[in-house]
Amino acid sequence: MTDELDRVRDHYRATGLTDRLRTALAVFGPEEGRLKPEQLATLDQFHTRGLVATAELANLAAITAGMSVLDVGSGVGGPARFLEATYGCKVTGVDLSAPFVEAARYLTARTGQDGKVSFETGSALALPFKDGMFDAALLQHVAMNITDRPLLYREIRRVLKPGGKFATFDVVLNGGDPHYPVPWARTPGESFLLPADATCEAIEAAGFGTLVRRDDTAAAKAWFAEFRASGPPPSLNLGVVMGQGFAEFATNLGRNLMEGRLGILTAVFEAVPVN
Ligand SMILES: C[S@@+](CC[C@H](N)C(=O)[O-])C[C@H]1O[C@@H](n2cnc3c(N)ncnc32)[C@H](O)[C@@H]1O
Repeated sequence: MTDELDRVRDHYRATGLTDRLRTALAVFGPEEGRLKPEQLATLDQFHTRGLVATAELANLAAITAGMSVLDVGSGVGGPARFLEATYGCKVTGVDLSAPFVEAARYLTARTGQDGKVSFETGSALALPFKDGMFDAALLQHVAMNITDRPLLYREIRRVLKPGGKFATFDVVLNGGDPHYPVPWARTPGESFLLPADATCEAIEAAGFGTLVRRDDTAAAKAWFAEFRASGPPPSLNLGVVMGQGFAEFATNLGRNLMEGRLGILTAVFEAVPVN
């Protein structure tokens, strides 16, 4: 295991996460009570613009019921549960962080989606799946933790069927060095940002053709401004997942976007034949 992966895993170590979630979710009543996936949206969509961004990305990727979808870097599983609940597709999540995978399975049992949505612990750089298994793959706010982009995108290409869709929504380097800590990294040692052009070039070089490419920085800035103006966050927020420092991480991400240091890229690609 590389030093980089160890540092990233340490950033998402989330000790006692499932117990923290169990305690936080007591606001919805007894443990046996079934939850709706959308009740978890303020703490299980670990990316800028939350559930709205996942819904937009799924729509751009034209997800449908018959598909088998892979969520790479699936976090605590919110996007995967949303996809299954909305489209009825089969969803598999894979994530480097064992505590996140345990939490994703717990939350999925609470929404009654176990059996339809599953999670595995594993690295995006060595996906634990056979070639050509999936119709679509999502990658939301994960690539900035990964230094070997050519390998990341080749792995995603490998597990997709020919013509399969790859939808990415990620933070990109824009006009300067970011302020740390940010939600994906306490220090620059676990942050491996690329500009949007270099990201798309690396994806195309791995055997993809571009279908959609969009700069979503303005939408992200508007979302942060609205969030700041709307008063204290809900009690169920990503601080439950990442601990007390999360408010500072999120503030810095907003500041980095506002100051033009970082941007947000949304893009969808199609797997093309590779030599
Ligand atoms: C900011 S969270 C985003 C989670 C999820 N995609 C979402 O949007 O809710 C980043 C996630 O990527 C995972 N991750 C980072 N590097 C990874 C790698 N090399 N392989 C698999 N997962 C990784 C982390 O463990 C974490 O769960």
